[in-house]
Amino acid sequence: MRNTTNKKAIKLSKSVVDMKEVNAVRHVMLEVGYFGMGGEVKAFESELKKFLRTKGEVACVNTGTSALHLAVAAVTKPGDEVLVQSLTYLSDFQAIRAAGAVPVACEIDPKNVTIDLKDAERKLTRKTKAIIPVHYAGDPGDLTKIYTFARKHRLRVIEDAAHAFGTVHKGKLVGSFGDIVCFSFDPIKNITSGDGGAVVTADKRVLRYVRDARLLGVMGDSEKRYKGERSWEFDVVRQGYRYHMTNISAAIGRTQLKKFGKFKKKRQSLSKRYYRLLANANGIVLFKTDYRSVVPHIYPIRVLGGLRDALREHLAKQGIETGIHYYPSHLLSYFRKRGVAFPVTEQIYSELLSLPLHPDVTKDEQDRVIRAITTFFQWNKKRPR
Ligand SMILES: Cc1ncc(COP(=O)(O)O)c(C=O)c1O
Repeated sequence: MRNTTNKKAIKLSKSVVDMKEVNAVRHVMLEVGYFGMGGEVKAFESELKKFLRTKGEVACVNTGTSALHLAVAAVTKPGDEVLVQSLTYLSDFQAIRAAGAVPVACEIDPKNVTIDLKDAERKLTRKTKAIIPVHYAGDPGDLTKIYTFARKHRLRVIEDAAHAFGTVHKGKLVGSFGDIVCFSFDPIKNITSGDGGAVVTADKRVLRYVRDARLLGVMGDSEKRYKGERSWEFDVVRQGYRYHMTNISAAIGRTQLKKFGKFKKKRQSLSKRYYRLLANANGIVLFKTDYRSVVPHIYPIRVLGGLRDALREHLAKQGIETGIHYYPSHLLSYFRKRGVAFPVTEQIYSELLSLPLHPDVTKDEQDRVIRAITTFFQWNKKRPR
């Protein structure tokens, strides 16, 4: 699908950085002199803890996927089952498998694309040990219900908050409460560290596990690295990984964290404006998200009448990039199970289309997106409603 206009392409998402990030990396390279895990990572973790106002601790890793993998590995044994919605980024399913556990795909609530707890309840077995609620597009849905469900069935909760950095749930920041919360700082997230992630938890055993496992399982190595030292003689009691965050990433993350207020304002105002200007458009349905508390990572809409792909192509020709978040994991060969139906997930998946959303989208660009959508439905004879 090619831009057939002479207008500048509008990107779906983007890393938004300036000389501040460049200077932070320069400082690590030329002055700190050690690119790997050290004081910058410790400082980023402390600043995240302060920002989140959490009583727990923060352990930074190299990706959000690693954060999820270590979180699942910390609370499950091989063969244990983990409930998760099928319509999510592939990371959740791969992270569960990587830990030796079994992902149990669940339906979604079409209102906000969060896990359908009725379906999750039907899928409980003796082996179910955890649930991963995914804060789709930044919206955690009703976390109180998730935690009540988890308490009732004695499950650990691993929040996939990759989309929800900065979101407030019932007056509290996501990550300031809860069991285990995983963030992603990949290149296009609400804040980026280049690539990176974090596990936030008040569970000391989980924290100890993550801190050691991210450095090949070397016991206590995190604390050495924080001081610019390393372990020469040590013990290892379980499988570990090279999942630590680097000083270079942490320097980018620290700079982005200072800009978060500005990013948040822009993401929220763009999303409110999409809602206001598209609310009466033909052929689409919008999610009713409260952008006073949610900091949106993406702006998905539902396109009715089987026209999603046609609209996507129409926008691409106008130089407007869109996305489809996400291809359901239960349809992938590696995770497919016979005889399990997901009608809601498959219907919603066939309608989802994400519009450009990042802090550099201008008002003119957003107007172009909105105009292109409304003209598509004016021209299209197959009007769905
Ligand atoms: C819902 C969700 N979970 C997990 C991840 C994984 O994060 P990362 O890309 O940092 O590995 C992502 C990243 O896009 C995501 O969107």
